[in-house]
Amino acid sequence: MFGSKTAGYFLGSVVISVCSLTFSLYNISVGADYVGNSGCKCHMGKGCFEGEEYKERLHSNTWEKRLKGSPDAENPDCLKCHATAYGEKIAEVGKKYLPNVQCEACHGAGSEYKKVKENYEGKGKDAFKEILKKDPFTARKVQYDTGLIVAGINGPATVKEQCMKCHWETKDDKNRCPKTDKVMDFKDFFKKDDHRDEDEIDVALKKLSPEDKKKWAAILPKDELLNSPLKPKKKE
Ligand code: HEC
Ligand code: HEC
Ligand code: HEC
Repeated sequence: MFGSKTAGYFLGSVVISVCSLTFSLYNISVGADYVGNSGCKCHMGKGCFEGEEYKERLHSNTWEKRLKGSPDAENPDCLKCHATAYGEKIAEVGKKYLPNVQCEACHGAGSEYKKVKENYEGKGKDAFKEILKKDPFTARKVQYDTGLIVAGINGPATVKEQCMKCHWETKDDKNRCPKTDKVMDFKDFFKKDDHRDEDEIDVALKKLSPEDKKKWAAILPKDELLNSPLKPKKKE
C-alpha cells in the first residue's frame, strides 16, 4: 500500500515537472513582447470592425478616465485591470505598463505576430495578407504559433474565463474593483464587447469537411459561445 502511494506521488511530481518544463519552453520559444495598440495598425485604421468596436468601449480609455492624474495612476493593484502588460516584457524601453485594456491584454503579446505580418517567410509585406485570404486556416495557425490568443480557442478555455480575470459576478468576490459596486452580467457584457465579424475564416469554417475539422481541431472554437451569430457590420 505504502509503496504504491509513494509511486503515485513520484509519478505525480514527474507529471507536474514535465508540465512546467513544457510551459517554460513554450514561453521561451514564443518570447513575444507587448507592442501596444499601435502595433495592431491594420485593425486600428478606419473601417476595421474590431478597431471601431474597440474604440467605443471603455476598455480603450479606462486608464485615462479612472487613474490618470490620481494617486493610483501607477498603483500595481489598479494597473492589473485598468492597464496592460504590467510586469511583462514591453517592446518600448523603459515602459512598465501600457495604459488601458489594450488588444494584447486579451490577445497576448504581439511582437512576433508583427514580424510575421511584415515579412511572412521573407516574402515581403503583402505575403501574410494573401495567406489570410487564400488559406485562412494556415493563417490562423501561424498567428497562434506566434503567441496570439483567442479565448475559447487557444487561450483561456472559455471567453467568460478570460473576462473573469478582471470582472466579477458577485459583490463579495475577492477579485473585484474597490471603487465600484457594479457586477458583470456576462451575457450583456459579451454582447457589448463581442467584436467578431465575418472574415474569410468564418466563411471557410461553415464549409469545413469532417476530415478537415479533425485536421484543424487545435485552432477551432471550443467555447459554444463562439458559434453564436456574428455581429452585423455597421453601415458606413
Ligand atoms: C479586478 C479588476 C480591477 C481592479 C483590481 C481595479 N479595478 Fe477599477 N474597475 C474595474 C472594472 C471592471 C470597473 C467597471 C465596472 C463596471 O462598470 O461594470 C472598474 C471601475 C472603476 C472606476 C469607476 C467607478 C464608477 O464610478 O463606476 C474607478 C474610479 C476605478 N475602477 C478605479 C480603480 C482603482 C483606483 C483601482 C486600484 C485601487 C482599481 N480600480 C482596481 C476593474 C478593476
Ligand atoms: C485586463 C482586464 C480586463 C479584461 C480581461 C476584461 N475587461 Fe472588461 N473591463 C475592464 C475594466 C478596467 C473596465 C472598466 C472600464 C471603466 O469603466 O473605466 C471594463 C469594462 C467592461 C465593460 C463596460 C464598459 C463598456 O465599454 O461598455 C464591458 C461591457 C466589458 N468590460 C466586457 C468585457 C468582456 C466581455 C470581457 C471578456 C471577453 C472583458 N471585459 C475582459 C477590464 C477588463
Ligand atoms: C477584453 C478582451 C479583448 C480585447 C481588449 C480585445 N479582444 Fe479581440 N477578441 C476577444 C475575444 C474573447 C474574442 C472572441 C469572441 C469575441 O469577439 O468576443 C475576440 C475576437 C477577435 C478577433 C476575431 C474576430 C473575428 O471576426 O473572428 C479579432 C480579429 C480580434 N479580436 C482583434 C482584436 C483587436 C485588434 C483588438 C484591439 C483593438 C481586440 N481584439 C481587443 C477579446 C478581446
